[in-house]
Amino acid sequence: MSATAIATPSTMWPSAKERRSDGLVAFDACHRRTLAIVGALEDMVATLDRAGPSAATCAEAASIAEFLSGEARAHHEHEERFLFPALLRGADPSLMRAVRRLHEDHDRMEEAWMELEPHVQAIATGFGTWDRDVLREGVCLLAALQRDHIEAEESLIYPELRKRLGSTDRRVLGRSLAKGERIAQDTSTLENPAVLEQISHSV
Ligand SMILES: [Fe+2]
Ligand SMILES: [Fe+2]
Repeated sequence: MSATAIATPSTMWPSAKERRSDGLVAFDACHRRTLAIVGALEDMVATLDRAGPSAATCAEAASIAEFLSGEARAHHEHEERFLFPALLRGADPSLMRAVRRLHEDHDRMEEAWMELEPHVQAIATGFGTWDRDVLREGVCLLAALQRDHIEAEESLIYPELRKRLGSTDRRVLGRSLAKGERIAQDTSTLENPAVLEQISHSV
């Protein structure tokens, strides 16, 4: 079972054409998938509380680990590289504080996942050991962090991004995400690698 199999109905993952024509669509879709994966992780812990790992549980653990180590990490990286800088240009202090908090959330979620990952991988592969209490507490923490973070992003920064990024920026973003590349052309509203560095001095 793949992460996609856990996370979709198909509406959760728009077509390649839709994602290429508007990069924000791909970011939104990743939020939906992340929430589905977090739910699957909680269900997995509940299943393990009732019984030991089955073949289905192992496969599910593998897909969850694949998603959280791959697509979820890339999503945070892309937000930091492409979206946060676009928000910070001309931002008022409250928006700058919000972006800084979201950036720190990414670090907290990464730390939570790094604690949890060896246990999920042990279930997935059957090698190594996993601890039920560590797993339960780690999943609880990661799920809360992910849900709070996505809610904050969707209530504040994504509406603001929709105002700031025009159709050309969103298309450039979509194409770059589809290719797995850095944005190749100059887009004045998108990339500024120094901006996050500036936050710590300005907030
Ligand atoms: Fe984020
Ligand atoms: Fe996000």
